[in-house]
Amino acid sequence: MTLRAPLLLLALLCCLGCPSEPALDLSDDVREYIERARYRRGILQRDLTTVENAYAQERLAQYGLGDEGWDLLPAVDFPSRPLMDTDRESLAGSDALERGSLTTLVPNELPTSDEEWIALGRRVFFEYPLRADSTYRALARLEDGLEDTGWLRDADDSWVGLRVFEDDQGALQVGNTCAQCHASYDGTDEPGLDGVLANREMNIGAARLLVMGLVPGDLPPEQDSTALGDLDRLGPGRGDVLADGSFNPFAFPDFGGLGDMPYLHHNANWVQRGVATLAVRCETLFITSAARQTRIPRVLSWALAKWQRSLPAPAPLLADPGPDFDAGAEVFDAEGCASCHVPPLYTSEREVEVADIGTDPAAGESSVRWSGNYRIPSLRGVARNAPYLHDGSVETLEEFLSGDREAPGHEYGQDLSPADRDALLAFLRGI
Ligand code: HEC
Ligand code: HEC
Repeated sequence: MTLRAPLLLLALLCCLGCPSEPALDLSDDVREYIERARYRRGILQRDLTTVENAYAQERLAQYGLGDEGWDLLPAVDFPSRPLMDTDRESLAGSDALERGSLTTLVPNELPTSDEEWIALGRRVFFEYPLRADSTYRALARLEDGLEDTGWLRDADDSWVGLRVFEDDQGALQVGNTCAQCHASYDGTDEPGLDGVLANREMNIGAARLLVMGLVPGDLPPEQDSTALGDLDRLGPGRGDVLADGSFNPFAFPDFGGLGDMPYLHHNANWVQRGVATLAVRCETLFITSAARQTRIPRVLSWALAKWQRSLPAPAPLLADPGPDFDAGAEVFDAEGCASCHVPPLYTSEREVEVADIGTDPAAGESSVRWSGNYRIPSLRGVARNAPYLHDGSVETLEEFLSGDREAPGHEYGQDLSPADRDALLAFLRGI
């Protein structure tokens, strides 16, 4: 307090004394985002819901400062190409990679239409390598390493989520992309590879165990309570992104409908007010993923945000959920579900405190992401989005509403009659 008061006074005097700095216009504007550090910082300060966690504090200390911090990192457009089975063979043989023909992403001119931005953003999602990754390089060498841990193949047989790329020292590397965890085949009416639903087969923990020569699902009992046991417990479709020393897995969120979600992250630690929020959020993720050594060119993070926000909410599991659907809609209203899960996306801005919802508090209370709240997830396509809750601790919708599940919290809909429960399930399969 003693230090702060004079500083505040000084700031106030300065503001009164120098009215030359115009108020900042923070409406979405790609040129402001690319060119003006003060705009980027304004977005960060406006949209973080709390400054009291390590995630926010690192960004506030480093981002949008212009002549210091992360703005000084080199912007790199890594030349890259798909990773094929022939690459796996040469890695297994001599740990070498052929250069092949590499492409980059930054266009000569800024895109001029939404379609162009979205097409570029889709390429960033599938093609921009996050970092040289020795684990995934070793995994690609192993027979069935990628097959057994949930990686997908594209139509040309390349491996989705992995690229061969040239790093800033000119060495050929294997790197992962955002598509590793966030792409799947089942998002749209015409099944194709996109980002509407996450890749729930992706098993990061098993991948790391395999590379260490361990057998997922069959660790020696003495390792059960160690970090290796946590990797084994992670299973598919979840990641522990907090790195705070305790086990707090997060289910991969779907990008479908993300453009209309009021908050970002299970912890709701960002308010999403537009393209710029998501561009800043993703730009800082690229920086931390690259060990804070390089940054993504901003035209690419803006394009990625445009693409993410263009993805439609997941389609319902059943186009025709049957006669119970209407009765289920009534149960949904009568049970008060709609006070939090508000149509059409079945989410809302309502703040739900970690202690009030009563689900596993570990991730909510972590000093890395603490915000006090868990976000209300969208229920669009929810019957296709297992596992449930922020930590993916519930495997099916039936279990979620069973009244005697192991995972604590979210007590709503736990004491329904069998008929009401079946109706509610039909409703959830049809939205
Ligand atoms: C190894 C798996 C993995 C990779 C790779 C990955 N993510 Fe994620 N992503 C997650 C997990 C887990 C979460 C949930 C984190 C949370 O809620 O705090 C998440 C959350 C997000 C969210 C918030 C979505 C929402 O609904 O609020 C966005 C946006 C996102 N990721 C974008 C990206 C981008 C862009 C990349 C590439 C730079 C990327 N992710 C790479 C696992 C991954
Ligand atoms: C007070 C607000 C609130 C009410 C009322 C509420 N929910 Fe939720 N719901 C949440 C929150 C918050 C979560 C996420 C909790 C977490 O991840 O730990 C959630 C999660 C869910 C999920 C898991 C979705 C996923 O993708 O993981 C389902 C399904 C769900 N709610 C259905 C319902 C139904 C059905 C009702 C009524 C019987 C209901 N909710 C009532 C706030 C609410």
